[in-house]
Amino acid sequence: MERLVIEGGTPLRGRLRVTGAKNSSLAVIAAAALASDVSVIENVPRCQDVLTLLEILRSLGAQAEMSDTGRLELDGAGLTGHVAAYDLCRRMRASIYMAGMLLARLGRAEVPLPGGCVIGSRPVDFHIRGFEALGAQVVTEHGFLKAHAQHLVPATFYVPRSSVGTTINLLLAASRTAGVTTLQNAAREPEVVDTAVFLSLMGARVRGAGTSTVTVEGTADLRGATYAIIPDRIEAGTYLIAGAATHGDVLIEGLISEHVTALLTKLTDAGVTVEADAAGVRARADADLRPIDVDTAPYPGFATDLHPQVAAMLATVAGRSVIRETIFEKRFGYVDELRRMGAEIRVDGDTAIITGVPHLSGAPVDAVDIRAGAAMVIAGLQARGETAIANLENLDRGYERLEDKLRGLGARLQRVRV
Ligand code: EPU
Repeated sequence: MERLVIEGGTPLRGRLRVTGAKNSSLAVIAAAALASDVSVIENVPRCQDVLTLLEILRSLGAQAEMSDTGRLELDGAGLTGHVAAYDLCRRMRASIYMAGMLLARLGRAEVPLPGGCVIGSRPVDFHIRGFEALGAQVVTEHGFLKAHAQHLVPATFYVPRSSVGTTINLLLAASRTAGVTTLQNAAREPEVVDTAVFLSLMGARVRGAGTSTVTVEGTADLRGATYAIIPDRIEAGTYLIAGAATHGDVLIEGLISEHVTALLTKLTDAGVTVEADAAGVRARADADLRPIDVDTAPYPGFATDLHPQVAAMLATVAGRSVIRETIFEKRFGYVDELRRMGAEIRVDGDTAIITGVPHLSGAPVDAVDIRAGAAMVIAGLQARGETAIANLENLDRGYERLEDKLRGLGARLQRVRV
């Protein structure tokens, strides 16, 4: 077992470059497997979720080689298996993309109901309704989603709750389906756009990605493509918040600033000095911060994947801050852990009410999910004394070389075996 041990109290200062977006990579890799030739994808993070997805694809017959610099070559030629392995899929939500990919590529898919972060019930009913709209027959039995279709047919489908995963899964399936499919109320996240751009390079005609109506003219003749993944706005946001929380000064190089507008607006409201230009995005906290109110929302709103991190920052901001979570009902797993460190947080329904304390104190805590783990890191960096974070597999699912990057900003931390 490993722990991440952090000695708090050092302001983070410096610059860093984030990896390609984890959630784009998972979708783009699934898209690459729609073709029976080679795609080359750059900027892929070596985080555990990506490695798990590559294992799933290898077990289905694809070949995947990833370099240390994040260059992935994926060859879908040998992909013939239509049953995805339970032991791999249960580890992450994005394994559900195998359903859209296999259904479109092989006409049948058996994919375990996915696992992933324990942040809400996270059903797949929207995905199933979407596949049915495309003409598939779908059942869930014995813990698997089983779908088949002789031929998928184009359709118009209203995506409930502008679900990111549903939008991506249907983009995958529709891209290999002859005719024009229209997705209404599609998710507008940059990761959806990234996937759409890649599918267009493969030969599908995707229009409107980034708006709530996306049309896809699919073709059975998808080819492999070469592409570079966009920078990870959630990883970047995590380091920007960590910089602000420690009263430091952090520049994220190469980040696309409009991907983090909602975060930068809230940081500015809190008294952080923010600069965004062609070089990247810089956040500097010279003075005491002010409490803020945050509502999470689908893009371009404030990302739910930055909620726990911002809560960790606000835990030591004098006054009363409020975070309302509108996407995942159980995103509050981090609250008990922050309380161990002395935070004063009350949860009332979908809302966390945070009363800032003068300082947090280091403690043993758990990374209960990916972003809750990131919140523990931010709390540990600000705390007095030593924080030892357990369940690092959750952090490793989403963050590549976290310790190296933080050390480069001056943090004092190390991973120890216990
Ligand atoms: N939902 C349903 N039924 C469905 C699908 C979704 O009820 O069939 C609900 C969900 O329970 C949730 C809402 O719809 O309340 C939105 O969920 P969405 O489908 O958008 O989320 P997702 O695709 O499962 C992705 C990211 C998450 C991120 C959310 C929201 C990936 C692999 N995961 O999840 O990322 O929080 O979108 O932006 O892209 C993370 O990276 O740590 C992470 C959890």
